[in-house]
Amino acid sequence: MNLSIIGTGYVGLVQGACFADTGNNVICMDIDEKKISGLKKGIIPIYEPGLEELVRKNAQEGRLEFTTSIKTAVQKSDIIFLCLPTPPSEDGSADLSHVLSVVDQIGELANADKIVVSKSTVPVGTVDKIKQLLKKKAKFQMDVVSNPEFLKEGTALQDSLKPDRVVIGTKSKKAAAILQELYEPFVRTGNPIIIMDEHSSEMTKYAANAFLATKISFMNELANLCEEVGADIDSIRKGIGSDPRIGKQFLFPGVGYGGSCFPKDVKALISTSEEFGRPLTILRSVDKLNEEQKKVLLRKLNKHFKDQLSGKTIAIWGLSFKPQTDDIREAPSLVMIRELLNAGAKVRAHDPIAISVVEPLFRGKIDFCESSYDALKDADALLVVTEWNEFRNPDFSKMKKMMKKPVILDGRNIYDPKEMKEKGFTYFSIGR
Ligand SMILES: NC(=O)c1ccc[n+]([C@@H]2O[C@H](COP(=O)([O-])OP(=O)(O)OC[C@H]3O[C@@H](n4cnc5c(N)ncnc54)[C@H](O)[C@@H]3O)[C@@H](O)[C@H]2O)c1
Repeated sequence: MNLSIIGTGYVGLVQGACFADTGNNVICMDIDEKKISGLKKGIIPIYEPGLEELVRKNAQEGRLEFTTSIKTAVQKSDIIFLCLPTPPSEDGSADLSHVLSVVDQIGELANADKIVVSKSTVPVGTVDKIKQLLKKKAKFQMDVVSNPEFLKEGTALQDSLKPDRVVIGTKSKKAAAILQELYEPFVRTGNPIIIMDEHSSEMTKYAANAFLATKISFMNELANLCEEVGADIDSIRKGIGSDPRIGKQFLFPGVGYGGSCFPKDVKALISTSEEFGRPLTILRSVDKLNEEQKKVLLRKLNKHFKDQLSGKTIAIWGLSFKPQTDDIREAPSLVMIRELLNAGAKVRAHDPIAISVVEPLFRGKIDFCESSYDALKDADALLVVTEWNEFRNPDFSKMKKMMKKPVILDGRNIYDPKEMKEKGFTYFSIGR
């Protein structure tokens, strides 16, 4: 099939490469000229395991092209995927300006019948808006389909090549059949392609992210209570997670969720619920709790140092919002760095991948360290913020030698409290 992808970011580039890899001709379009000229030279703008090889291979074999021309992308394809940003507006609702302005251009440029697929996460009713706009502008038959994306950054390729499910939202039998054929190679093992109406499909994406965010905030709040009552959240996690109705995943307490999806999607669903007069009160609490949880390590740090952080050197391990990605959107680390600087502390930070994206935000204000041990030099305390594998089994005696004081605040519960005590560390974690 001849496909185009409009918006070559995390979703667009990964999806474009995967569609090309199953034999389709794919044109990836973006307005970012630097990104496109880099991609033409094989430079991948994001860190995602396995992506570079897949992009290079398919580009070399002539199935994957890059362009800044929306005209080329629209006119040379039969199916157009919208993978555009939908950031939060000031009031929390999803900002659809990128999506609608592109749809406007597609309507003008369409040179034959096409299928337009919305992969961006968009509020219920957006597909209706896209249809209306195209009906006004286009001279051809334009089917519009909702096809939300469920990939996770860090395992995006795996998730796209073997999705747990594919959701296709359309009442058009023809469009559904074409998309089913396109996705068939990815679900050979029997995972479902679920066809539903457009509104339900749009809502399914928000429901998935809101539910997962709720699980996280629930565990974080419970962890905070565990500290008060003297219970261990790790034991509780195992105790409840073995119940298949609850499930083992997303039960890890921590420093709050971040990233480009959960925070904005929770806010957008709250906004939709309010607009329709059915406020989702659970989600309001989830969102509020998450903002508070981003400061949990700082509350512990302040308590330990009796609110005297001025002049202290604080090391941070991990800047990206989760391991295996360089995405720092809404990352808890950024909140921590700002609060530490406000309190007059010095910050020494290390991350295996994300330093180059954080550096422009805090240039000259904090020290960026190439190695995790270097970040510990003369540190009064270490905050473990992202659970990168390389932090899991460090050389604790080397750490102790490097640090001014052996104080660790573990925001991801990656170390054992008993062992840390035996090794002579003052150790704090979450809910234990
Ligand atoms: N990142 C994820 O993990 C993820 C997962 C599932 C769904 N989503 C959703 O997918 C959508 C895209 O997310 P993303 O993370 O890929 O965003 P992104 O910011 O990484 O990529 C978006 C791309 O669109 C480009 N763009 C902006 N305006 C454009 C225009 N007018 N024409 C062409 N290109 C334009 C940007 O330059 C950018 O490269 C969002 O709605 C998001 O919520 C993201």
